Amino acid sequence: MVESYIVSLAVATVLESNIDQSALLVLKAQISYDPHNVLTNNWSTGTFVCSWVGVTCDSGYQRVDALNLSYMGLVGTIPPHMGNLSFLVSLNIENNSFHGSLPEELSHLYKLQHLSFGFNNFNGEIPSWMGLLSKLQNLSMYGNSFTGTIPPSLSNISSLQVVNLSYNRLSGSIPSSIFNIYNLQEIDLRDNMLSGPMPSIISNKSSLQVINLRSNNLSGPLPDTFDHLPYLQRLRVSYNQFYGQLPSTLFKCKRLQYLSLANNDFTGSILSEIGNLSMLTELYLYTNAFEGTISSGLFKCNQLQSLWLSANRFTGSVPSEIGNLTKLTELYLDNNNFEGTIPFGLFKCNQLQILWLSANRFTGNMPSEIGNLTILTELSFDKNTFEGTISSGLFKCNQLQRLWLSANRFTGSVPSEIGNLTKLTELFLDSNNFEGNNSQKCPTPYQGDDDATTLYTIKKLPPHQAGVARGHSLCFNQ
Ligand SMILES: *[C@@H]1O[C@H](CO)[C@@H](O)[C@H](O)[C@H]1NC(C)=O
Ligand SMILES: *[C@@H]1O[C@H](CO)[C@@H](O)[C@H](O)[C@H]1NC(C)=O
Ligand SMILES: *[C@@H]1O[C@H](CO)[C@@H](O)[C@H](O)[C@H]1NC(C)=O
Ligand SMILES: *[C@@H]1O[C@H](CO)[C@@H](O)[C@H](O)[C@H]1NC(C)=O
Ligand SMILES: *[C@@H]1O[C@H](CO)[C@@H](O)[C@H](O)[C@H]1NC(C)=O
Ligand SMILES: *[C@@H]1O[C@H](CO)[C@@H](O)[C@H](O)[C@H]1NC(C)=O
Ligand SMILES: *[C@@H]1O[C@H](CO)[C@@H](O)[C@H](O)[C@H]1NC(C)=O
Ligand SMILES: *[C@@H]1O[C@H](CO)[C@@H](O)[C@H](O)[C@H]1NC(C)=O
Ligand SMILES: *[C@@H]1O[C@H](CO)[C@@H](O)[C@H](O)[C@H]1NC(C)=O
Ligand SMILES: *[C@@H]1O[C@H](CO)[C@@H](O)[C@H](O)[C@H]1NC(C)=O
Ligand SMILES: *[C@@H]1O[C@H](CO)[C@@H](O)[C@H](O)[C@H]1NC(C)=O
Repeated sequence: MVESYIVSLAVATVLESNIDQSALLVLKAQISYDPHNVLTNNWSTGTFVCSWVGVTCDSGYQRVDALNLSYMGLVGTIPPHMGNLSFLVSLNIENNSFHGSLPEELSHLYKLQHLSFGFNNFNGEIPSWMGLLSKLQNLSMYGNSFTGTIPPSLSNISSLQVVNLSYNRLSGSIPSSIFNIYNLQEIDLRDNMLSGPMPSIISNKSSLQVINLRSNNLSGPLPDTFDHLPYLQRLRVSYNQFYGQLPSTLFKCKRLQYLSLANNDFTGSILSEIGNLSMLTELYLYTNAFEGTISSGLFKCNQLQSLWLSANRFTGSVPSEIGNLTKLTELYLDNNNFEGTIPFGLFKCNQLQILWLSANRFTGNMPSEIGNLTILTELSFDKNTFEGTISSGLFKCNQLQRLWLSANRFTGSVPSEIGNLTKLTELFLDSNNFEGNNSQKCPTPYQGDDDATTLYTIKKLPPHQAGVARGHSLCFNQ
């Protein structure tokens, strides 16, 4: 009695493995190109399905519980038979060229927790039956050609933690329910064609850490419900058409490390509450219509490494407290209406690699303390009203690759030490009041512009060939 039970269990197991095997053989038959012959040589009926490459089985039942065919260069379609792999927990076919639409039979994979169809060529709509995959935790559909709207049924999957639908052609508005998925931790919808507003977050959602809506066609003000996201770490809404003032609840997301609002139409000033975001390491506000002076609250964000304020309407002088941001590696203040001299505090930021001050109304001299910034690779002072001579301090910045001083009122001669900046690939000195007092001949092959009205070198010339011309040529380091 017991023995016959064991025998029938064994028979059942073999039969059920056969179900898995035949489903995978249909999949193999629908693969039209297998560039490395991975499946062609390995998935053979002579061997047990659980030993096939990419296949992992449940140790008890010997049923296929994971299929990983990622990065195999496969071309093909997904057959409905895949829905028979009823023990499947993880299905990863990332980075292949599977195409067509998704068969509804996949909704039978009721144990599925991880699904990655990322970087394939699937098209059609994201089917609403996906809402039936009630154990799903990771849903990665990025990098395909999915069209249509995001099915609201996805919001029914209370176990979902990561939803990544980025790099598709999804349109329509974002279903408001999607932000209320019970366990949602990360949602990435970047690079689609979604429109309408960012939905409000209706209730406390302490699981949610990452929201990425970059590069869509979203508009309207941001919802004032960020107080429901106490654990938000990364918020990226750049390259949309959002407008209006920042909602005050945004400054309650005290764990924010990354905030990108760039390339929208946001207005208003940066309030002192920004100082509540003391864990920020990256802040991107460029290309908006922000105005007013820089609030001192910003200088409480002393973990900042990247600060991009370019192309707004900021005014006033830059407070010396900028020197509190000692971890800054990139500071972009260009294309605003900043005025006054370079704040002395800035020279405490000795981790700076990129400092862009172009196209403002800065005045005064180039302080010799510029030489404290010894790891600078890019420095732009152009299109301001700086005056005086080029400080010799500058030649301590011997990692400089790009040096832009054009369109100021610099005077004196261009010191020949500029040739010590051996890593320079771009040097722009034109439209200043330099004296052309150096008449060394330019080295051949000189590719500079002999136009007598300009004083500059040409991009990408190796430094030892750097030539500047103004009335007569000025060359260095030869
Ligand atoms: C198929 O691939 C698996 C994993 O690489 C390997 O262990 C197995 O021996 C291969 N089987 C055949 C028949 O080549
Ligand atoms: C799936 O396969 C890829 C490529 O071989 C590998 O990098 C990845 O770690 C595998 N994933 C899992 C969950 O086994
Ligand atoms: C598997 O799935 C296909 C298509 O969904 C179906 O025709 C077939 O009968 C199923 N069962 C087995 C045992 O293959
Ligand atoms: C897919 O993998 C190939 C080979 O590993 C790689 O060259 C390609 O960049 C990958 N594509 C994507 C979109 O990741
Ligand atoms: C699911 O997503 C989480 C968070 O991104 C990740 O750590 C985990 O490795 C993913 N699991 C699988 C099987 O892809
Ligand atoms: C979510 O599930 C409920 C009950 O299972 C169902 O009535 C509802 O239509 C589903 N919602 C969506 C958007 O599919
Ligand atoms: C979504 O997928 C893209 C492409 O692989 C990746 O760069 C991005 O980090 C993913 N987003 C999340 C939130 O994991
Ligand atoms: C939100 O949830 C967290 C963790 O569950 C809790 O500490 C916090 O008090 C809640 N906040 C609100 C406003 O309900
Ligand atoms: C983006 O939305 C605006 C209106 O808000 C519309 O005029 C425009 O056509 C949309 N662009 C795309 C690419 O959908
Ligand atoms: C900023 O933090 C202070 C002190 O923690 C708090 O009183 C204030 O309400 C916060 N402001 C905002 C907008 O969250
Ligand atoms: C900047 O640092 C100085 C000196 O440590 C400190 O007194 C000041 O309060 C700081 N400013 C801000 C806005 O944190």
